[in-house]
Amino acid sequence: MSSDTTGTAAENAATPAAAPAPNPNAPTEETVLAVEHYTDRLFRFRITRPRSFRFRSGEFVMIGLPKEDGRPLLRAYSVASPAWDEELEFYSIKVPDGPLTSRLCNIQPGDKVLLARKPTGTLVLDALLPGKRLYMFSTGTGFAPFASLVRDPDTYERYEEVIVTHTCREVAELTYSRNLVADLINDPLVGEMVEGKLRLYTSCTREPHEHQGRITDLIDSGQLFRDLGVPPLDPQTDRAMICGSMVMIQDTKARMIRAGLTEGSNAAPAEFVIEKAFAG
Ligand SMILES: Cc1cc2nc3c(=O)[nH]c(=O)nc-3n(C[C@H](O)[C@H](O)[C@H](O)COP(=O)(O)OP(=O)(O)OC[C@H]3O[C@@H](n4cnc5c(N)ncnc54)[C@H](O)[C@@H]3O)c2cc1C
Ligand SMILES: NC(=O)c1ccc[n+]([C@@H]2O[C@H](COP(=O)([O-])OP(=O)(O)OC[C@H]3O[C@@H](n4cnc5c(N)ncnc54)[C@H](OP(=O)(O)O)[C@@H]3O)[C@@H](O)[C@H]2O)c1
Repeated sequence: MSSDTTGTAAENAATPAAAPAPNPNAPTEETVLAVEHYTDRLFRFRITRPRSFRFRSGEFVMIGLPKEDGRPLLRAYSVASPAWDEELEFYSIKVPDGPLTSRLCNIQPGDKVLLARKPTGTLVLDALLPGKRLYMFSTGTGFAPFASLVRDPDTYERYEEVIVTHTCREVAELTYSRNLVADLINDPLVGEMVEGKLRLYTSCTREPHEHQGRITDLIDSGQLFRDLGVPPLDPQTDRAMICGSMVMIQDTKARMIRAGLTEGSNAAPAEFVIEKAFAG
């Protein structure tokens, strides 16, 4: 009996017998669309978004580049663009000897970036109870998830007032957040919603700026609330999201707990949520 029972010899020859099955969980290869550098330590970039990639504004995902041996080198990144956007935006540090960012900082439009398939995270509106005023406290690249949330109409549908704080060492490190919020007024989707509702409060710790000092000190002294003309933190009305280094999160979280707010999660929404921007 002939062994060639399923097709012609030519067809069989065209079928690679030993090809490994494609891994359905492997990262997808996306194309870089735009890159903008702010300082020697900070940049943002935009990439294509696969139709199958769904996320909630504020979540993070693993992204990266292939290593020399072809295997993926991935790091956690907050998606900085909102859930409705057809592209994906990321706001990134450049760590000079960082395995990923020492290479990622050189990407150009047209280059490829790896994108994992499963976003996750707790800096989402669903992890908070309804309230009047939403605070988003950030330092450094910790602003990234809030760049997503301030561009999401859902944020303004759920809260009457949205206050984003961004603290950096130097003024130039505030460029991304300041430009983004200033441009929002012209955004066709949320432009009208942000008017009178969204406020960005920036402070610097190592250079003169309109507001000076760590956010924790500005909370402790009450300066933040005086500057904004709002009452001190109140669990009845206020909700908060925190994103920065581990130590900034712990210190800011302690202020939330002291004010009577409790920590929430996707499974048990409450009055504040946290996510680390980097494991440092
Ligand atoms: C949940 C989560 C979300 C994150 N989202 C972002 C994001 O949106 N943008 C972003 O730039 N990074 C983000 N990070 C950090 C990111 O995963 C990487 O650590 C970063 O890209 C550096 O990668 P690397 O391989 O070059 O160096 P790594 O080996 O990962 O880091 C080297 C050292 O650099 C410092 N470092 C790392 N990341 C930062 C940072 N963002 N800011 C200041 N110092 C840092 C730390 O001291 C760290 O030990 C996130 C991390 C987590 C856990
Ligand atoms: N040009 C450079 O080479 C350069 C420049 C900056 C940073 N770095 C390095 O990069 C790394 C990350 O620096 P980064 O500036 O992105 O992040 P960072 O050290 O977390 O500082 C970001 C902002 O958060 C504040 N902050 C730090 N700890 C806090 C806390 N516990 N509570 C409240 N606020 C807090 C800082 O204030 P303080 O200023 O008071 O700490 C600063 O304004 C560091 O290792 C740093 O040495 C390098």
